[in-house]
Amino acid sequence: MSDTTSGAAQAQIGVTGLAVMGRNLARNLARHGYTVALHNRSYSRTQSLVAEHGDEGTFVPSESMADFVASLERPRKVIVMVKAGGPTDAVIDELVPLLEEGDIVIDAGNAHFPDTIRREAALRERGLHFVGTGVSGGEEGALNGPSIMPGGTREAYASLGPILEDISAKVGGVPCCTYVGPDGAGHFVKMVHNGIEYADMQLIAEAYDLLRQGLGASAKEIGEIFARWNTGDLESFLIEITAEVLGHTDARTGSAFVDVVLDQAEQKGTGRWTVQNGLDLGVPITGIAEATFARSLSGSVPQREAARAALPAEAQPWDVTDRDAFVEDVRKALYASKVVAYSQGFDQIAAASAENGWDIDRGAMARIWRGGCIIRARFLDRITEAYERDPNLPLLLADEYFTAAVSEGVAAWRRVVAQAALHGVPTPAFSSSLAYYDGVRAERLPAALVQAQRDFFGAHTYKRVDAEGTFHTEWSGDRTESEA
Ligand code: 6PG
Repeated sequence: MSDTTSGAAQAQIGVTGLAVMGRNLARNLARHGYTVALHNRSYSRTQSLVAEHGDEGTFVPSESMADFVASLERPRKVIVMVKAGGPTDAVIDELVPLLEEGDIVIDAGNAHFPDTIRREAALRERGLHFVGTGVSGGEEGALNGPSIMPGGTREAYASLGPILEDISAKVGGVPCCTYVGPDGAGHFVKMVHNGIEYADMQLIAEAYDLLRQGLGASAKEIGEIFARWNTGDLESFLIEITAEVLGHTDARTGSAFVDVVLDQAEQKGTGRWTVQNGLDLGVPITGIAEATFARSLSGSVPQREAARAALPAEAQPWDVTDRDAFVEDVRKALYASKVVAYSQGFDQIAAASAENGWDIDRGAMARIWRGGCIIRARFLDRITEAYERDPNLPLLLADEYFTAAVSEGVAAWRRVVAQAALHGVPTPAFSSSLAYYDGVRAERLPAALVQAQRDFFGAHTYKRVDAEGTFHTEWSGDRTESEA
């Protein structure tokens, strides 16, 4: 049913920006019984939504932004679902003069969190709520239940939250949506979700490559291995779709589909933002960084061509003899590396939360990622439990469950990384995760030597293990030490 009368304030929520994500969110809301106001820059898109899906619920389409705003009950709730960056600012600029105190603007796109902080402050000045909201799950999720990560004020969440929880994915009846924290917290958490998504995808790709090269197995056979893995600890959306992709045959050539796809991975930028922020905060998110750089390497076409010509790969036959043991080693290495990537991502959330005063509950974030989103996985339950055991856990890897899980797999992890290196198979995410594991638990790191070098060439000073204070050695003089 659709209602084309504009002017009467009857819609409980509105969506402006009706490309596929906005359109599916609007349909999801309507299917849950909400009367949904619709607006899009070109009216034909609004009309086609009503024509094709008008029977799913009650839509109130408007051609102008003014009519759209007028069709909403107060406090108005307007979901903006347009491209991040300039287009979002343009829509906000058009919308804001039409709104009144207490109205709520929800940016459900993949905005960069500093933009969300800026927009929230600007709208707060005008008495409006700005709710930067992470939404994950792609088109399917938007329609059938995404994971939703809303920021902004608790006051805005009090009226908006129940609607968002209603349309979110549910796991065991629990909504995959909760209040994340003030201003940019929601978009920050979505950004880290995407960074972890990059790491997870790269780790899966490395596991596939190892199985392909080590076993000489076909894509289809490896797809079957992934399908099996999806019945155990690794069970997740990304493992499930990997099995599907690897089992798919290209209709044009009859080849495995994965073999006809150009091997250059692209990105829209959320992984890059995560890595940039990791550097700003000084949090070693090495799994996410390697995954992001692996995409960059794949797209470095002239460099790859030059390297292939000058440094061709050695043709080393890699004939794994105990195939079942190798598959099990790769599975354990994948699980351990995945734990490291998540542990690092949760560290990043903790650091940003402390720096911005967001007070983000990490266990709750793992809980709302259990369904609807791209990184949904069985082991997120274990993460929630870890933070329930200790809400201030300094390192996920130090939780009893994860300590046991990683220790159980560490020998396999080392064998896989060593074999990959011996056979020239690039495993940046597997290898860097193992290096992080060994680094973070080392009794003593060679960072001591780095500090000494810094003091030698730049008088940058150092601290001692046996005395308080900061020191400098006269390296070019008599090498006496003074307190700085
Ligand atoms: C999601 C996804 C979604 C997305 C990004 C990342 O949670 O639904 O993370 O936001 O697929 O656009 O894509 P890139 O790989 O292009 O950066």
